[in-house]
Amino acid sequence: MLGRVNHIAIAVPDLAAAVASYRDTLGAAVSQPQALPAHGVTVVFVELPNTKVELLEPLGEASPIAAFLEKNPSGGMHHICYEVADILAARDRLTASGARVLGNGEPKIGAHGKPVLFLHPKDFFGTLIELEQV
Ligand code: CO
Repeated sequence: MLGRVNHIAIAVPDLAAAVASYRDTLGAAVSQPQALPAHGVTVVFVELPNTKVELLEPLGEASPIAAFLEKNPSGGMHHICYEVADILAARDRLTASGARVLGNGEPKIGAHGKPVLFLHPKDFFGTLIELEQV
């Protein structure tokens, strides 16, 4: 069911500082910041030869990463995103086996314009999983 790793997301308290660190210290190619109000984050993509890293900063009052940053004030790995060919088939298979899909269970359009779902971290060894249909 799982395809490639699409991205790894890191929540950061200060996006400009994180961009400077990835660009200047690590020497990576980084995108311009992109505000995603529907997701409550501002995101920068770090382009790597085999995948991407997304740097996420909270946007707005009800950001879904605010609680994570309260627990991890210097930032931390927030989720890993795997590609799937058919997100509804993947969801149905997962829920049939008892895994919990976050939210109302319907895919949302993610940062890359593709449908995404999130799976409960307690069902997958403490890691929040995002599925993206490609
Ligand atoms: Co993501």
